[in-house]
Amino acid sequence: MKLNLKINSENKVFDIDVRDTLMDVLRTNGYKSVKHGCETGECGACTVIVNGLTVNSCIYPAVKCEDAELITCEGLEKDGKLSILQEKFIEMGAIQCGYCTPGMLLSAHALLMKNPNPKLEDVKDALSGNFCRCTGYKKPVDAVMAAAKEMKGAK
Ligand code: FES
Ligand code: FES
Repeated sequence: MKLNLKINSENKVFDIDVRDTLMDVLRTNGYKSVKHGCETGECGACTVIVNGLTVNSCIYPAVKCEDAELITCEGLEKDGKLSILQEKFIEMGAIQCGYCTPGMLLSAHALLMKNPNPKLEDVKDALSGNFCRCTGYKKPVDAVMAAAKEMKGAK
C-alpha cells in the first residue's frame, strides 16, 4: 500500500507493507538516524516525532502515519547548520558513542516545541524514555537546559 506523509517538511510517498513498523519504513528510506535498539518500546533509540509527540517507532505501525507530520534527527539541522540543541550536546560533552543521541535530541526537541521554558524536572521527565549506556544523563539534561536558555536569548 502507499503511505503519504510529511517528513522534515518534505512530502513523501512510500510503498509499505501493512505490517511494517515506522522504524523499518524510515530506515529503509534512508532515515538512518532512527536507531535499532531493543525493538520492544523500552530504550528510546528509535524515537521520532509524529504530529508533535514522541513515539517509539519500533512498535509504532507505519500505517498510523498517513498524512502525519514527522520529524527525525535529519530534520533538526537547517541549511547544513546544526540546531542550538545539537550544538549544546556537542559543546557540553553530552555525546559519547552517540547511539542514543538522535532519540534524546528528538525527545528534547518535542519538549522545547511545547515548553520553551522547561524546569529541570521537565527535562528529566522528557528524557526519561531514552536510555544511555555510556554518557549518563546529567550532561544531556544540562545541554537541554542550556539550549533552552540560549534559544530564549536568540528570540
Ligand atoms: S528500539 Fe524502539 S524503544 Fe528501543
Ligand atoms: S552516548 Fe552512548 S548510549 Fe548514549
